[in-house]
Amino acid sequence: MIAIASESGDAEAVPRHVAVIMDGNGRWARSRALPRHAGHKAGIKPVRMMVESCAQSGVEVLTLFAFSSENWRRPPEEVNALMRLFIEALRREVAELYRNGIRLRFIGQLDGLGPELNRAISEAVSKTRDNARMELVLAVAYGGRWDLAGAARKLAREVEAGELRVDQIDEARFEAALETAPLPPVDLLIRSGGEQRISNFLLWDLAYSELYFSDALWPDFTQTQLNAAFEFYAKRQRRFGRTAEQIEVQTFSHGVP
Ligand code: IPE
Ligand code: IPE
Ligand code: MG
Repeated sequence: MIAIASESGDAEAVPRHVAVIMDGNGRWARSRALPRHAGHKAGIKPVRMMVESCAQSGVEVLTLFAFSSENWRRPPEEVNALMRLFIEALRREVAELYRNGIRLRFIGQLDGLGPELNRAISEAVSKTRDNARMELVLAVAYGGRWDLAGAARKLAREVEAGELRVDQIDEARFEAALETAPLPPVDLLIRSGGEQRISNFLLWDLAYSELYFSDALWPDFTQTQLNAAFEFYAKRQRRFGRTAEQIEVQTFSHGVP
């Protein structure tokens, strides 16, 4: 009995939604006596690999953590270099993403990013809006707690306006008020760079994700590391609170080996 990776109990080797904490750029640069921003620049190549490879494998949604709400605490030079890199990379890559059938979405507190980056974001989103091969979600100035607080605020406003009763607030309503509402739950979380923590990424959406930690620093994250993450995922039995026996019976009755 292997690879039970969906709630229905069907054997599914490919995760529907993959989320990635791309960590280790600074240490990669430091080990080469380079400035930190050189590490961020070197982190673009594995982003390309992830997008192409995930789309090819049939992943529906790929969410990448590019900048957290806490990353504003970094030295201003590093923050500025990152913002420049986002603008340049977005402008450079959007045509290729469009050709490859990738739809772009952004989550996070975008209003703090400045007009130039916001313009690049709007252009990229509208250019790719009809693509359907895979959705690429970029989390920029995103924090899981920020998202949860925003959802609470939105529901409270609806209650205040008399559009919603307090006893109507359940998990489905709450989820619908999150920035990540249109996305399926995360099946596989990958974090590079050796740390085993969530760092305020998708708190609600990670409730039942499989967690894969790689020691590779993000600029060194290649197809080999991604394959290892997929293999790890394919071996998990996802029980969602049930027993292994229940899942096995369900799988058997579906006729899947
Ligand atoms: C992740 O790499 C990229 C961002 C947070 C923007 P880091 O810059 O955190 O790299 P380390 O953890 O210092 O090596
Ligand atoms: C998480 O990495 C954020 C991103 C990858 C964008 P950090 O390097 O900021 O995480 P901590 O602070 O070490 O937990
Ligand atoms: Mg880090």
